[in-house]
Amino acid sequence: MPSKLPKHIFNLLLLLGIFALLAISAKIYLTDPSFYRFGHYRADAVPIIAAGTPLYQGSAYCETCHDERLADWSTGIHSTVQCEVCHGTDREHPDDGKALIPADTIRLCTLCHEAMPARPARQPQIISAEHPFPGDEPEPCQNYHDPHSPGDSQATEGTLNTDTPAAVTAGGAINVPAVASKCAKCHGKQGEGRKKNPALAGLESAVFIERINMYISGARDNKKMARYASSLSDKEIAELAKYYENLPAIPPQ
Ligand code: HEC
Ligand code: HEC
Ligand code: HEC
Ligand code: HEC
Repeated sequence: MPSKLPKHIFNLLLLLGIFALLAISAKIYLTDPSFYRFGHYRADAVPIIAAGTPLYQGSAYCETCHDERLADWSTGIHSTVQCEVCHGTDREHPDDGKALIPADTIRLCTLCHEAMPARPARQPQIISAEHPFPGDEPEPCQNYHDPHSPGDSQATEGTLNTDTPAAVTAGGAINVPAVASKCAKCHGKQGEGRKKNPALAGLESAVFIERINMYISGARDNKKMARYASSLSDKEIAELAKYYENLPAIPPQ
């Protein structure tokens, strides 16, 4: 029979036969035994991958040492942006780490905030080329926005409305508007509340004082408010209580 096959066809079949033999022995001798146990992959690879150390440690890990930052961040609008998104990952930190502060914040911030038609409208967007800067040159974003709680510093520090009810400021040596301007960055310049920060305008003064004392004692657990409440003297608390009680309650913007 073979003599009837033309020589070139015989050679071709021989070559195909050798190739098939090679492929089958490669399949038998070179594939890992765990291949195909669960599917078209090496089953033993799964525990090896699972045993690796995770690259991202999560924001809760940072809290163990940076609880002040975490307190700013967790009550702010950026609380959906994890620490490591901006600071990167570095397992050696803090013992022998590289600089974790992003060098180019303009690049970092525009990564999420540059205007794009497909971006959800609730994510604030800017057109870098048209973004106003006080000088001619673009400046790092953190000069004007607190990266950990951007809403806070967008506020109106120092621009507290000066025509506050006169009865409140009269009589005491305490400059209530100046003290209240510290609170305005979160609670609004008329105590109207901003985002997650509750309104204070119209709050009954006894309630105000009670709440402030709860932050000081820890009965209410809020690190930010604990810090601000503890910074106030009793007299300041009493004056602020009157001040906010007299402000008209307005719905939050
Ligand atoms: C075990 C404690 C510890 C943990 C956990 C920790 N840090 Fe730190 N971090 C430090 C210390 C201490 C410093 C100050 C180091 C210095 O000034 O040289 C620091 C400094 C920093 C700085 C400032 C670096 C600079 O160049 O000035 C950043 C940013 C930072 N940490 C981010 C983070 C982030 C993000 C996490 C979570 C992924 C984190 N850290 C977790 C202890 C810690
Ligand atoms: C949106 C980006 C962003 C997020 C999210 C963020 N950071 Fe930062 N962080 C920055 C930038 C930018 C700076 C540098 C600020 C500056 O130079 O004023 C900074 C500074 C710091 C510093 C050094 C502060 C100082 O003043 O010395 C620490 C520590 C830090 N961040 C920790 C954290 C931790 C912990 C979290 C998570 C709870 C976090 N950051 C989340 C952008 C971010
Ligand atoms: C990973 C994406 C991401 C990065 C990076 C990021 N942001 Fe944001 N930022 C957001 C989102 C999302 C919101 C809106 C959150 C919401 O409305 O719940 C926001 C909100 C804001 C707001 C609006 C605050 C308000 O009160 O309306 C400002 C200002 C802001 N970011 C500034 C910055 C700055 C400055 C940086 C750089 C240091 C930065 N962001 C980096 C995602 C990001
Ligand atoms: C960094 C932002 C921030 C600043 C600044 C700030 N607060 Fe607050 N404040 C908050 C947040 C967030 C809450 C809600 C906390 C909670 O869930 O208990 C709060 C709650 C309060 C409450 C309780 C309101 C209620 O209805 O229960 C009072 C009173 C108050 N703040 C007063 C002040 C005063 C006075 C100052 C200025 C000395 C001030 N805050 C500064 C963020 C802030």
